[in-house]
Amino acid sequence: MSYVALYRKYRPATFDEVIGQDHIINTLRNQILQDKVSHAYLFTGTRGTGKTSTAKIFARAVNCPHVKEHNGNPCGKCSVCNTVGNANLDIIEMDAASNNGVDYARDIREKVQYPPVNGRYKVYIIDEVHMLSVGAFNALLKTLEEPPKHAIFILCTTEVHKIPATILSRCMRFDFRLVPTPELAKLVAHIYDAEGKEYAPEAVTAIAQAGEGSVRDCVSIADRCLSVSDDKLEYADVLSVLGVSSKNSIVALARAIFANSPSDILTEINKLVTEGKDIARLNKDLSLYIRDVLTAKVCKDANSILMLPQDAFATLREIAETVSVKKLLYAIDRFVSAEASLKYALSPLMLFEATALSVASSSGDVDAEGLDRRLTRLEQQYSQTKETRSLYVVDKTDPKSVWRGVKMQIDEQNEPLLNGVWSDVKVSFDAQGNFVVRCSDGAYWLIENKFKKRLTACVAMFCDGKLIVEQDDGSSQTEIDKQLSALGKDVKFD
Ligand SMILES: Nc1ncnc2c1ncn2[C@@H]1O[C@H](COP(=O)(O)OP(=O)(O)OP(=O)(O)O)[C@@H](O)[C@H]1O
Ligand SMILES: [Mg+2]
Ligand SMILES: [Zn+2]
Repeated sequence: MSYVALYRKYRPATFDEVIGQDHIINTLRNQILQDKVSHAYLFTGTRGTGKTSTAKIFARAVNCPHVKEHNGNPCGKCSVCNTVGNANLDIIEMDAASNNGVDYARDIREKVQYPPVNGRYKVYIIDEVHMLSVGAFNALLKTLEEPPKHAIFILCTTEVHKIPATILSRCMRFDFRLVPTPELAKLVAHIYDAEGKEYAPEAVTAIAQAGEGSVRDCVSIADRCLSVSDDKLEYADVLSVLGVSSKNSIVALARAIFANSPSDILTEINKLVTEGKDIARLNKDLSLYIRDVLTAKVCKDANSILMLPQDAFATLREIAETVSVKKLLYAIDRFVSAEASLKYALSPLMLFEATALSVASSSGDVDAEGLDRRLTRLEQQYSQTKETRSLYVVDKTDPKSVWRGVKMQIDEQNEPLLNGVWSDVKVSFDAQGNFVVRCSDGAYWLIENKFKKRLTACVAMFCDGKLIVEQDDGSSQTEIDKQLSALGKDVKFD
């Protein structure tokens, strides 16, 4: 018999075998047990997370007469459950990627009217439904609007944004999630047990991590690892299958970066490149490794998350001791940003080397956190100055306080020429309550010629009397006087 890929061999046949989608499975199971199934479903979510498998299980379960005894699962023994492929006339599976025309949708519309052959329901599974043409969607919409009682539609897609809103609103939608690593690891272990393959636990965790949430990807990697050796599957075997840049060189590179040793950095990079490692892959592996160092640094029980072999974890801890959290965050930030630029770089190698060298020599100060802190400080300072201005309460009986109030009004309007005036004057109230400003020649001249109107208006805000400006003969020459005599008094304003 020819070899059957693991992901097909272990395709779940019951709801119990679907992992990581409890929120969906529980609802579907209850609907079946309570006889409350809907007429249209939309299964969406990342590839390889169980959409098609769940649709197939559901299609069998609605017609299997023994579901109640099996907690909502298809029994797997009756004629409904046991038909292979398209032999079950009540389950119609279509791939919209190859049949996307309007004729096909019309054909469904006609045939859906005929009652089911064996069971209670006729179930249409339309996979990759986003591939349907506009005309086909419209034809399908007509069917979804008034489906016969015996019809159930399950639309599956990874690209829900391509489905017209009119279709979406008629479907009960379920979002399939990425499956967490521990659940993937459990599945891989279960498959290897069933296959009689021995394995190291770290090897299985590495496979689960590489699946990045997709069950199909994860099971395919497990499949590839099966053939690496006939003996027990080790962590290193998995790494060799994944083509991860050899772990030891990555460790050496990380060490060199955090020791700020440029020659070691360039030597290690050169070594990896001559081994034929792809720069983008190298950049990704290094980022992941630094992330692990950070985990070892900040988490008490880090290895329960990382699940590394003891010696690998000890090395990680040792590197973590030599570097600050701040610098680790900075390094991750830089290498992750470099990931995008590498695609367009004329020389990815040069960019990678430069990033590594600059991370090595940096103190990590210019991290996002640092910038954020600085920004907050500036904002606080700014709002404080604003507050002191607006919060200043003028004491109308104190001429100095009135003058300060006036100054604030003018200040807002940014008058550099007046800068010298504020301190060069003596202010007081006269017997009639007028506000008297005594000032030097220059200031007098300046006020009379340019600011009288505005100062008058401002003074009026704080006292009932008039503004009187007087020349203070006794005053010595001030800075303004000197400046003005240098300019010549016939200088014109406005
Ligand atoms: N939640 C899951 N539980 C158990 N096995 C799963 C799950 N999801 C996927 N698999 C495995 O991956 C294979 C593919 O799954 P399936 O075809 O259901 O994914 P899909 O979400 O329809 O993917 P695609 O978006 O690529 O169509 C299955 O045969 C099964 O081995
Ligand atoms: Mg699918
Ligand atoms: Zn059955």
